[in-house]
Amino acid sequence: MLQKTSAATDMVARYPSLIDKRVIVTGGGSGIGEGLVEAFVAQGARVAFVDIAEDAAQALVDRLTPDARHAPIQRHCDLTNLDSLKAIFADLEEALGGVDILVNNAGNDDRHSIEDVTPAYWDERLNVNLRHQFFAAQAVIPAMKRAGGGAILNFGSISWHLGLNDLVLYQTCKAAIEGLTRSLARDLGRENIRVNTIVPGNVQTPRQEKWYTPEGEAEIVAAQCLDGRIQPSDVAALVLFLASDDAKMCTGHDYFIDAGWR
Ligand SMILES: NC(=O)c1ccc[n+]([C@@H]2O[C@H](COP(=O)([O-])OP(=O)(O)OC[C@H]3O[C@@H](n4cnc5c(N)ncnc54)[C@H](O)[C@@H]3O)[C@@H](O)[C@H]2O)c1
Repeated sequence: MLQKTSAATDMVARYPSLIDKRVIVTGGGSGIGEGLVEAFVAQGARVAFVDIAEDAAQALVDRLTPDARHAPIQRHCDLTNLDSLKAIFADLEEALGGVDILVNNAGNDDRHSIEDVTPAYWDERLNVNLRHQFFAAQAVIPAMKRAGGGAILNFGSISWHLGLNDLVLYQTCKAAIEGLTRSLARDLGRENIRVNTIVPGNVQTPRQEKWYTPEGEAEIVAAQCLDGRIQPSDVAALVLFLASDDAKMCTGHDYFIDAGWR
Protein backbone atom coordinates (compact mmCIF):
# COMPACT_ATOMS: atom_id res chain seq x y z
CA MET A 1 0.00 0.00 0.00
CA LEU A 2 1.27 3.49 -0.86
CA GLN A 3 2.31 5.62 2.09
CA LYS A 4 1.14 9.25 2.34
CA THR A 5 4.24 11.42 2.55
CA SER A 6 4.84 15.00 3.58
CA ALA A 7 7.80 17.34 3.32
CA ALA A 8 8.61 16.53 6.92
CA THR A 9 9.08 12.78 6.44
CA ASP A 10 12.09 10.81 5.25
CA MET A 11 10.05 9.40 2.34
CA VAL A 12 10.37 12.46 0.07
CA ALA A 13 13.05 13.00 -2.58
CA ARG A 14 16.19 14.89 -1.62
CA TYR A 15 17.72 17.26 -4.15
CA PRO A 16 21.41 17.93 -3.47
CA SER A 17 21.25 20.82 -5.94
CA LEU A 18 18.76 22.66 -3.69
CA ILE A 19 21.05 22.73 -0.65
CA ASP A 20 21.99 26.36 0.13
CA LYS A 21 20.02 27.64 -2.90
CA ARG A 22 18.56 31.13 -2.42
CA VAL A 23 14.79 30.95 -2.79
CA ILE A 24 12.04 33.59 -2.67
CA VAL A 25 8.43 32.41 -2.30
CA THR A 26 5.55 34.89 -2.60
CA GLY A 27 2.46 34.31 -0.45
CA GLY A 28 4.51 31.89 1.66
CA GLY A 29 2.65 32.47 4.93
CA SER A 30 -0.26 30.09 4.46
CA GLY A 31 -1.89 27.54 2.16
CA ILE A 32 0.23 26.07 -0.63
CA GLY A 33 2.92 28.71 0.00
CA GLU A 34 3.39 27.47 3.54
CA GLY A 35 3.94 23.97 2.16
CA LEU A 36 6.47 25.35 -0.34
CA VAL A 37 8.45 27.20 2.32
CA GLU A 38 8.48 24.09 4.51
CA ALA A 39 9.62 21.89 1.63
CA PHE A 40 12.48 24.18 0.52
CA VAL A 41 13.64 24.62 4.13
CA ALA A 42 13.62 20.82 4.55
CA GLN A 43 15.92 20.58 1.49
CA GLY A 44 18.47 22.85 3.19
CA ALA A 45 17.76 25.88 0.99
CA ARG A 46 18.01 29.51 2.11
CA VAL A 47 14.39 30.60 1.99
CA ALA A 48 12.80 34.03 2.16
CA PHE A 49 9.10 34.64 1.73
CA VAL A 50 6.70 37.56 1.57
CA ASP A 51 3.06 37.78 2.64
CA ILE A 52 0.46 40.16 4.01
CA ALA A 53 -0.58 37.63 6.67
CA GLU A 54 2.02 38.64 9.20
CA ASP A 55 0.98 36.46 12.15
CA ALA A 56 0.80 33.32 10.02
CA ALA A 57 4.17 34.15 8.44
CA GLN A 58 5.89 34.63 11.78
CA ALA A 59 4.30 31.45 13.19
CA LEU A 60 5.74 29.54 10.21
CA VAL A 61 9.22 30.97 10.78
CA ASP A 62 8.99 30.04 14.46
CA ARG A 63 7.83 26.50 13.61
CA LEU A 64 10.53 25.78 11.01
CA THR A 65 13.55 27.54 12.51
CA PRO A 66 14.57 24.97 15.18
CA ASP A 67 15.24 22.18 12.62
CA ALA A 68 16.37 24.36 9.71
CA ARG A 69 19.84 24.35 8.13
CA HIS A 70 18.98 27.98 7.29
CA ALA A 71 16.22 29.72 9.26
CA PRO A 72 13.63 31.11 6.83
CA ILE A 73 13.20 34.88 6.57
CA GLN A 74 9.81 36.55 6.17
CA ARG A 75 8.87 40.10 5.23
CA HIS A 76 5.51 41.82 5.16
CA CYS A 77 4.87 42.89 1.56
CA ASP A 78 1.65 43.72 -0.25
CA LEU A 79 2.56 42.57 -3.75
CA THR A 80 -0.05 44.85 -5.30
CA ASN A 81 2.16 47.77 -4.25
CA LEU A 82 5.00 47.67 -6.78
CA ASP A 83 7.21 50.16 -4.91
CA SER A 84 7.01 47.93 -1.85
CA LEU A 85 7.66 44.82 -3.96
CA LYS A 86 10.80 46.38 -5.45
CA ALA A 87 12.17 47.54 -2.09
CA ILE A 88 11.44 44.26 -0.25
CA PHE A 89 12.89 42.14 -3.04
CA ALA A 90 16.10 44.23 -3.00
CA ASP A 91 16.26 43.75 0.77
CA LEU A 92 15.73 39.97 0.48
CA GLU A 93 18.31 39.65 -2.28
CA GLU A 94 20.83 41.28 0.02
CA ALA A 95 19.78 39.13 3.00
CA LEU A 96 20.07 35.91 0.95
CA GLY A 97 23.23 36.99 -0.90
CA GLY A 98 21.50 36.60 -4.30
CA VAL A 99 18.50 34.78 -5.75
CA ASP A 100 18.48 31.40 -7.57
CA ILE A 101 14.79 30.46 -7.42
CA LEU A 102 11.59 32.52 -7.46
CA VAL A 103 8.21 30.94 -6.78
CA ASN A 104 5.38 33.29 -7.81
CA ASN A 105 2.72 31.66 -5.64
CA ALA A 106 0.62 34.50 -4.16
CA GLY A 107 -2.89 34.92 -5.50
CA ASN A 108 -6.49 35.40 -4.45
CA ASP A 109 -9.49 33.56 -5.88
CA ASP A 110 -12.38 35.67 -4.56
CA ARG A 111 -15.58 34.88 -6.45
CA HIS A 112 -17.36 37.57 -8.51
CA SER A 113 -20.17 37.85 -11.03
CA ILE A 114 -19.69 39.55 -14.40
CA GLU A 115 -22.21 42.32 -13.67
CA ASP A 116 -20.47 43.30 -10.42
CA VAL A 117 -17.04 43.94 -12.03
CA THR A 118 -16.12 47.63 -12.11
CA PRO A 119 -12.95 49.03 -13.73
CA ALA A 120 -11.47 49.44 -10.22
CA TYR A 121 -12.24 45.80 -9.33
CA TRP A 122 -10.74 44.66 -12.65
CA ASP A 123 -7.49 46.46 -11.76
CA GLU A 124 -7.49 45.13 -8.20
CA ARG A 125 -7.99 41.50 -9.34
CA LEU A 126 -5.33 41.72 -12.03
CA ASN A 127 -2.91 43.32 -9.58
CA VAL A 128 -3.33 40.58 -6.97
CA ASN A 129 -3.26 37.69 -9.43
CA LEU A 130 -1.10 38.66 -12.41
CA ARG A 131 0.88 41.91 -12.33
CA HIS A 132 3.19 41.06 -9.42
CA GLN A 133 4.31 37.82 -11.08
CA PHE A 134 5.93 39.83 -13.89
CA PHE A 135 7.45 42.47 -11.61
CA ALA A 136 8.78 39.90 -9.12
CA ALA A 137 10.48 38.13 -12.04
CA GLN A 138 11.86 41.44 -13.32
CA ALA A 139 13.24 42.16 -9.84
CA VAL A 140 15.20 38.88 -9.54
CA ILE A 141 16.42 38.44 -13.12
CA PRO A 142 19.62 40.53 -12.69
CA ALA A 143 20.65 38.43 -9.65
CA MET A 144 19.91 35.21 -11.55
CA LYS A 145 22.00 36.40 -14.49
CA ARG A 146 24.89 37.18 -12.15
CA ALA A 147 24.52 33.67 -10.64
CA GLY A 148 24.71 32.08 -14.12
CA GLY A 149 21.08 30.93 -14.14
CA GLY A 150 17.95 30.37 -12.12
CA ALA A 151 14.45 28.97 -12.01
CA ILE A 152 11.13 30.85 -11.94
CA LEU A 153 7.89 29.01 -11.17
CA ASN A 154 4.63 30.85 -11.84
CA PHE A 155 1.44 29.58 -10.24
CA GLY A 156 -1.41 29.14 -12.70
CA SER A 157 -4.61 27.21 -12.05
CA ILE A 158 -6.69 24.42 -13.51
CA SER A 159 -9.76 26.65 -13.09
CA TRP A 160 -9.66 28.31 -16.53
CA HIS A 161 -8.89 24.99 -18.22
CA LEU A 162 -12.18 23.73 -16.77
CA GLY A 163 -14.05 27.05 -17.15
CA LEU A 164 -15.42 27.32 -13.60
CA ASN A 165 -18.22 29.69 -12.55
CA ASP A 166 -17.85 33.12 -10.90
CA LEU A 167 -14.10 33.45 -11.46
CA VAL A 168 -13.83 35.37 -14.73
CA LEU A 169 -11.05 37.77 -13.66
CA TYR A 170 -9.08 35.14 -11.74
CA GLN A 171 -9.28 32.78 -14.70
CA THR A 172 -8.28 35.57 -17.10
CA CYS A 173 -5.14 36.10 -15.00
CA LYS A 174 -4.38 32.40 -14.73
CA ALA A 175 -4.68 31.98 -18.50
CA ALA A 176 -2.32 34.94 -19.00
CA ILE A 177 0.24 33.43 -16.63
CA GLU A 178 0.82 30.53 -19.01
CA GLY A 179 1.61 33.10 -21.73
CA LEU A 180 3.86 34.98 -19.32
CA THR A 181 5.77 31.77 -18.61
CA ARG A 182 6.29 30.98 -22.27
CA SER A 183 7.45 34.54 -23.06
CA LEU A 184 9.87 34.76 -20.15
CA ALA A 185 11.25 31.30 -20.91
CA ARG A 186 12.06 32.38 -24.48
CA ASP A 187 13.68 35.68 -23.48
CA LEU A 188 15.68 34.21 -20.58
CA GLY A 189 16.66 30.76 -21.85
CA ARG A 190 20.10 31.81 -23.15
CA GLU A 191 20.85 33.14 -19.65
CA ASN A 192 20.12 29.65 -18.30
CA ILE A 193 17.02 30.93 -16.49
CA ARG A 194 14.21 28.39 -16.70
CA VAL A 195 10.56 29.44 -16.36
CA ASN A 196 7.63 27.07 -15.89
CA THR A 197 4.01 27.18 -14.74
CA ILE A 198 2.63 25.04 -11.93
CA VAL A 199 -1.04 24.25 -12.61
CA PRO A 200 -2.71 22.96 -9.43
CA GLY A 201 -6.06 21.25 -9.32
CA ASN A 202 -8.08 21.66 -6.15
CA VAL A 203 -5.66 21.65 -3.24
CA GLN A 204 -6.94 21.14 0.29
CA THR A 205 -5.91 24.38 2.02
CA PRO A 206 -7.66 26.21 4.87
CA ARG A 207 -8.97 28.83 2.41
CA GLN A 208 -10.39 26.24 0.00
CA GLU A 209 -12.22 24.59 2.89
CA LYS A 210 -14.13 27.90 3.08
CA TRP A 211 -15.58 27.43 -0.43
CA TYR A 212 -16.33 23.71 -0.41
CA THR A 213 -18.86 21.65 1.52
CA PRO A 214 -18.11 17.92 2.00
CA GLU A 215 -20.49 17.30 -0.92
CA GLY A 216 -18.57 19.79 -3.10
CA GLU A 217 -15.28 18.10 -2.22
CA ALA A 218 -16.78 14.71 -3.07
CA GLU A 219 -17.80 16.12 -6.49
CA ILE A 220 -14.23 17.23 -7.16
CA VAL A 221 -12.83 13.84 -6.17
CA ALA A 222 -15.40 12.16 -8.41
CA ALA A 223 -14.21 14.32 -11.34
CA GLN A 224 -10.53 13.48 -10.65
CA CYS A 225 -8.98 10.30 -12.04
CA LEU A 226 -7.40 9.62 -8.65
CA ASP A 227 -9.06 9.29 -5.28
CA GLY A 228 -7.93 11.58 -2.46
CA ARG A 229 -7.46 15.30 -1.94
CA ILE A 230 -4.32 17.08 -3.16
CA GLN A 231 -2.20 18.46 -0.31
CA PRO A 232 0.25 21.40 -0.37
CA SER A 233 3.08 18.86 0.06
CA ASP A 234 2.02 17.20 -3.24
CA VAL A 235 2.33 20.55 -5.01
CA ALA A 236 5.65 21.18 -3.28
CA ALA A 237 7.00 17.86 -4.61
CA LEU A 238 6.51 19.10 -8.20
CA VAL A 239 7.90 22.55 -7.39
CA LEU A 240 11.06 21.07 -5.83
CA PHE A 241 11.73 18.94 -8.89
CA LEU A 242 11.25 21.83 -11.32
CA ALA A 243 13.38 24.14 -9.17
CA SER A 244 16.20 21.59 -8.92
CA ASP A 245 19.00 20.91 -11.39
CA ASP A 246 17.31 17.57 -12.16
CA ALA A 247 14.91 19.67 -14.28
CA LYS A 248 17.73 21.48 -16.08
CA MET A 249 16.20 20.93 -19.53
CA CYS A 250 12.62 21.78 -18.51
CA THR A 251 11.43 25.26 -19.44
CA GLY A 252 8.55 27.12 -21.06
CA HIS A 253 5.85 24.65 -20.07
CA ASP A 254 2.88 24.11 -17.80
CA TYR A 255 2.99 21.24 -15.31
CA PHE A 256 -0.29 19.97 -13.86
CA ILE A 257 -0.73 18.59 -10.36
CA ASP A 258 -4.47 17.96 -10.41
CA ALA A 259 -5.08 14.23 -9.77
CA GLY A 260 -6.43 14.15 -13.32
CA TRP A 261 -9.36 16.55 -12.74
CA ARG A 262 -11.42 16.89 -15.96
N1 LIG B 1 -5.68 25.86 -3.44
C1 LIG B 1 -6.07 25.53 -4.64
O1 LIG B 1 -6.91 24.64 -4.80
C2 LIG B 1 -5.48 26.18 -5.89
C3 LIG B 1 -5.90 25.72 -7.13
C4 LIG B 1 -5.35 26.29 -8.28
C5 LIG B 1 -4.41 27.30 -8.17
N2 LIG B 1 -4.03 27.75 -6.93
C6 LIG B 1 -3.03 28.81 -6.89
O2 LIG B 1 -2.00 28.47 -5.98
C7 LIG B 1 -1.50 29.65 -5.36
C8 LIG B 1 -1.61 29.52 -3.85
O3 LIG B 1 -2.98 29.29 -3.54
P1 LIG B 1 -3.49 28.94 -2.09
O4 LIG B 1 -4.66 28.06 -2.28
O5 LIG B 1 -2.39 28.54 -1.21
O6 LIG B 1 -4.04 30.38 -1.64
P2 LIG B 1 -4.21 30.98 -0.17
O7 LIG B 1 -5.19 32.07 -0.30
O8 LIG B 1 -4.48 29.89 0.79
O9 LIG B 1 -2.76 31.58 0.13
C9 LIG B 1 -2.27 32.64 -0.63
C10 LIG B 1 -1.25 33.39 0.18
O10 LIG B 1 -0.92 34.58 -0.54
C11 LIG B 1 -1.01 35.68 0.34
N3 LIG B 1 -1.38 36.90 -0.38
C12 LIG B 1 -2.58 37.20 -0.93
N4 LIG B 1 -2.56 38.42 -1.45
C13 LIG B 1 -1.32 38.92 -1.24
C14 LIG B 1 -0.69 40.17 -1.53
N5 LIG B 1 -1.36 41.17 -2.12
N6 LIG B 1 0.60 40.34 -1.18
C15 LIG B 1 1.27 39.35 -0.54
N7 LIG B 1 0.72 38.16 -0.22
C16 LIG B 1 -0.56 37.95 -0.57
C17 LIG B 1 -2.09 35.30 1.35
O11 LIG B 1 -2.00 36.04 2.55
C18 LIG B 1 -1.81 33.81 1.55
O12 LIG B 1 -0.87 33.57 2.57
C19 LIG B 1 -2.33 30.82 -5.92
O13 LIG B 1 -1.64 31.41 -7.00
C20 LIG B 1 -3.60 30.13 -6.39
O14 LIG B 1 -4.24 30.86 -7.39
C21 LIG B 1 -4.54 27.21 -5.78
